[in-house]
Amino acid sequence: MIRRIARLWRQKETKEQDMADLETLLQKLDRTRIPKHIAIIMDGNGRWANSRGLPRYFGHKAGVESLRDIVRACSELKINVLTVYAFSTENWKRPQEEISILMDLLVEYLHKEIDELCDEGVRVNPIGKLEELPESAIKALKMAVERSRENEGLILNLALNYGGRAEIIEAVRAIVAKVKAGDLSVEQIDSNIISEHLYTSGQPDPDLLIRPSGDFRISNFLLWQLAYTEFWYTPVMWPDFRRIHLVNAIIDYQGRDRRFGGLKKNDKTT
Ligand code: FPP
Repeated sequence: MIRRIARLWRQKETKEQDMADLETLLQKLDRTRIPKHIAIIMDGNGRWANSRGLPRYFGHKAGVESLRDIVRACSELKINVLTVYAFSTENWKRPQEEISILMDLLVEYLHKEIDELCDEGVRVNPIGKLEELPESAIKALKMAVERSRENEGLILNLALNYGGRAEIIEAVRAIVAKVKAGDLSVEQIDSNIISEHLYTSGQPDPDLLIRPSGDFRISNFLLWQLAYTEFWYTPVMWPDFRRIHLVNAIIDYQGRDRRFGGLKKNDKTT
């Protein structure tokens, strides 16, 4: 009993400390240079659960809590687009039980959150080969898209059955079809045309990519769109990732010198 009270007290102290740290960090944030588009590879759910002796399911469930917090934070920070990698074209290789759990969590998330997402002005925008998802997921996504269609705040790109290569292949096919039909000439194909045929058409490319869990891979995520994106990695597992980490990432991003292949402002030219 005493140990339990001590643990709860420690948790309360940690939470209070986190809130104080977050307040300090928020003061360092330059509100005029908030990234327009943030992309996140929500990684580490399985390891988070395993390190606690729990089945992987618990990691995914805890990961949904992180998603809730980060969506709210991005909305409050007036970020235009948040893209989260929720299920890749390669994730079908996982055991059927885990796939079903992930799809059930998605359906549950959409039904539970849609009211609050709409209150915050969030527009749900699934991206990927959605037609290959289970019927229950397709139905829940249609509901969320329909309910949030008119919202003008944060665009939440949910990458589901998403693969960067598959996305580029689809774009190439659509462009070739237009060329064949005489609606587009080969000479007209440039990077704008390619961008317009991606799932993220009309959106700015990500300014910042966040990958939790200590891995340093792109994992077939937004291969075209990440060309000039700033990367930020952390060993924190996704289920432990909270707005304090997000704000840290943005502050770090604000300190970067983005040159897009050019030179720094004060660089000597000769
Ligand atoms: C990667 O962790 C995570 C996923 C494959 C799924 C991400 C899903 C969620 C955060 C929750 C459900 C999503 C929605 C939209 C409700 P991993 O399982 O590969 O972890 P590991 O690398 O530690 O094994």
